[in-house]
Amino acid sequence: MSAAMTVVETGGGRLLSVSGLSVFHRDRTVDGLVEGVSFSLDRSRTLAIVGESGSGKSLTCKAIAGLLGSNLQAGGDVTLAGRKLLDLTERDWRGIRGREIGFVFQNPFSALNPVLTIGQQITEPLRLHANMSRRDARQEAARLLDLVRIPQAARRLDDYPHQFSGGMCQRVAIAMAIACKPKLLIADEPTTALDVTVQADILDLLTDLRRELGLAVVMVTHDFGVAAQIADEIMVMYGGTLMERGSARDILGRPQHPYTLGLLRASPANGVKGRPLHVIPGSATHPLQDRRSCPFSTRCDKATAACKINRPVLQTVGRGHAAACLRLTATEMAA
Ligand SMILES: Nc1ncnc2c1ncn2[C@@H]1O[C@H](COP(=O)(O)OP(=O)(O)OP(=O)(O)O)[C@@H](O)[C@H]1O
Ligand SMILES: [Mg+2]
Repeated sequence: MSAAMTVVETGGGRLLSVSGLSVFHRDRTVDGLVEGVSFSLDRSRTLAIVGESGSGKSLTCKAIAGLLGSNLQAGGDVTLAGRKLLDLTERDWRGIRGREIGFVFQNPFSALNPVLTIGQQITEPLRLHANMSRRDARQEAARLLDLVRIPQAARRLDDYPHQFSGGMCQRVAIAMAIACKPKLLIADEPTTALDVTVQADILDLLTDLRRELGLAVVMVTHDFGVAAQIADEIMVMYGGTLMERGSARDILGRPQHPYTLGLLRASPANGVKGRPLHVIPGSATHPLQDRRSCPFSTRCDKATAACKINRPVLQTVGRGHAAACLRLTATEMAA
């Protein structure tokens, strides 16, 4: 029997466990791109992955969804509802993508096929994965469009993507991602290409869908304001590794890593009117270039000589709260 045919539900609310996830080039001629990413996510919860460009957010998501390009490979362990994902064949993956994991890409226009109607695009996964008849799939497509708040949904099924705005295309992409009732929705910067008011609508929509459908959501964002609005938990990445993770309340209210602090101070949501925003000096380095040092040490205003010769490991700094920084000694943590 194909591994994709059975889902073993594990007890409790745990849906996704990621342990020591790495992403590297198949031929291993260059350094790894992501290393040592570990986290878990319960049903109906939302995790935001935050970090600057190149920090490994998309690769982490793609590795979980089996969407890495053919030149890349994932290592470590990813378990979804009791099933190990990294050992699956491409054939098994076809039964999981869409059905178990829905994926929403950053650019709503590139996610849709310009020469197919919206109706054709939403009914395709329903006919393929849910074995629906043409008529039932069309009815379900209209229901889904209504669910993602497209006005006069049934009448819009025969329209083409160019007849929809960017925000509406992103709603359609979300409708396609949830069509087969996945347990996990991964949204890679779903609002970055949209203006601020449309962005707020999409975030509200994701929150509602999570509640209504019991979805767990992993959402990538550059923006702590977005994370604050939607996330139960936040994971901060830099240089292909995990810098800090914890509940949204802890990360936003009690950040422990200098990188998290810097990002928070640089966030427009925390800005003071009339004052320039804080800027983290320098720019993101190539991931995992120097395995002996802290990847953030070249830009960190708290870095000491020790940070240049030791790679910090993730350590617990509170309940469900961990950070990878050499400065986090017991006394500092207690303060
Ligand atoms: N297919 C690939 N082959 C080789 N290197 C890649 C590939 N995809 C991404 N990378 C590299 O891996 C690193 C992490 O990329 P990733 O796309 O995960 O970053 P990101 O955090 O999502 O950034 P952004 O915010 O710009 O989307 C980058 O240095 C990138 O150049
Ligand atoms: Mg990305």
